[in-house]
Amino acid sequence: MSDAALEVVEFVLTASVYSEDRTLDENDLPPAYRRVYWTGGVDDEAGDDDDAGADGGTAGGRARPAGISRPLSVTEQTAREATGVPEPWAAISDLMFTERDEFSGTITLAERGMAERWFADRADDDRLLENPTLAKHFADHEEFDVDVSHDDARERNRPIRADRVWIDALLEQYFDDEEDEEMLDLVDVRAPEEVDMSLEDLVLTADQENELDKIAKAIEHRDYLSQIGLREIGKLLFVGPPGTGKTSTAQALAQDMDLPFVEVKLSMITSQYLGETAKNVDKTFEVAKRLSPCILFIDEFDFVAKTRRSDEHAALKRAVNTLLKSIDNISLIEDDVLLIGATNHPDQLDAAAWRRFDEIVNFPKPDYDMRADILRVITRQMDIEEFDPQFIAEITDGLTGSDLRMVLREAVLEALTEDRTSLTQDDLVNAVKEFEERDTLKNMDMMEGDHDALVAGGDLGGATDGGHGHDHDHDHDHSHGHDHDH
Ligand SMILES: Nc1ncnc2c1ncn2[C@@H]1O[C@H](COP(=O)(O)OP(=O)(O)OP(=O)(O)O)[C@@H](O)[C@H]1O
Ligand SMILES: [Mg+2]
Repeated sequence: MSDAALEVVEFVLTASVYSEDRTLDENDLPPAYRRVYWTGGVDDEAGDDDDAGADGGTAGGRARPAGISRPLSVTEQTAREATGVPEPWAAISDLMFTERDEFSGTITLAERGMAERWFADRADDDRLLENPTLAKHFADHEEFDVDVSHDDARERNRPIRADRVWIDALLEQYFDDEEDEEMLDLVDVRAPEEVDMSLEDLVLTADQENELDKIAKAIEHRDYLSQIGLREIGKLLFVGPPGTGKTSTAQALAQDMDLPFVEVKLSMITSQYLGETAKNVDKTFEVAKRLSPCILFIDEFDFVAKTRRSDEHAALKRAVNTLLKSIDNISLIEDDVLLIGATNHPDQLDAAAWRRFDEIVNFPKPDYDMRADILRVITRQMDIEEFDPQFIAEITDGLTGSDLRMVLREAVLEALTEDRTSLTQDDLVNAVKEFEERDTLKNMDMMEGDHDALVAGGDLGGATDGGHGHDHDHDHDHSHGHDHDH
């Protein structure tokens, strides 16, 4: 028996069971199967937008998927797409219980009972848990000795609201005219499947982990929180210097919790459509509510404070006030929207902005141990001779996670110039030096007399020409006035 046969039989059996059992919905199909049968479209349930989110994790009260209709018919084509098996019929044609209609090409089960037994003998519980349709079917029929529950499988299956097709259908329905299209410049919506950042790729402080745990618990128990009237929860502000993982963490959270990631680009608010901006801000929050449960990420939050200064355009001020009001009116408990703001300049936020967030999460520059861990994480797929992350961590005081990534990229590219695809510790050390030079250039104060360094052959602390007998020792400090906060 081949794995291919098992894959294809699972697909045919699922299609058959799903077509019959009307209590099953799209969330009972594995995402790969859903994609094959998706035809687009969303049913709007009486246009009722104010339905509170006590939906127990199903498709929700706001809109229902209309994109998959019964019966599900299996052909060579659909089976190939769903399972990735190149010749699906060939994989199962030997089995006694399978059948193909020569004329339509439809693949069916001539003997479903037999197919069920065949499958039950070969698929373990873990496999069943990946397929809620079959998990329910086998759990319901006692003759099969399986130890899985429908609920567990559904819990584990990615919900349809996290699929790109589903998100697109909702957006399409909501943004029908051209003016609305412009508004999509302001927001960027990503399906969790498109976010290629996971919590495993990030090195977090204990404090950050604790905050994320708390919010995950709050989401899990939001019915309870609503019951006891605790609503001021679910608005986080990520604070820290550039490159410390704020955006990445918000994205990883979306991926981890299977939530669409809605990003507001505040700087776009100042774009040409100023007159429309207040309205667009409103719409952005509508989008988030539509897509809920989701994460609404507002980057560069300090922008809000800047625009509240008196000399700004009235329309801009109006937009920002709308934004603040919208933030007040959105809630994790009632709307299933987790709001995350991020800023590099907490000092610029005024009290009005601060008090809108119930948790502040600090993203400091990584300390020694974190740097070593980050180096381990970002080199996981690389082959490095005599790799000593501890040592690199020692010589990279003041660098952020993003800086360390840049160092690694530099090392890789340098090695490639010598046609090497394997790195050495020395490559990394050199790349750190290289990075410091860039950093020196970037932070050079033109007015205060680093002039020498700008003259060809001048000392950049390790410049390559070496002709002037300068002392190239590295003892300069990386932080150059941007703060050291670890
Ligand atoms: N703690 C960390 N662990 C692992 N990788 C990190 C960490 N911090 C930053 N990085 C990496 O650095 C890169 C930049 O991070 P990110 O964009 O999340 O920073 P940011 O805090 O949002 O910066 P900015 O304020 O400029 O928007 C990402 O590729 C991320 O993976
Ligand atoms: Mg960012």
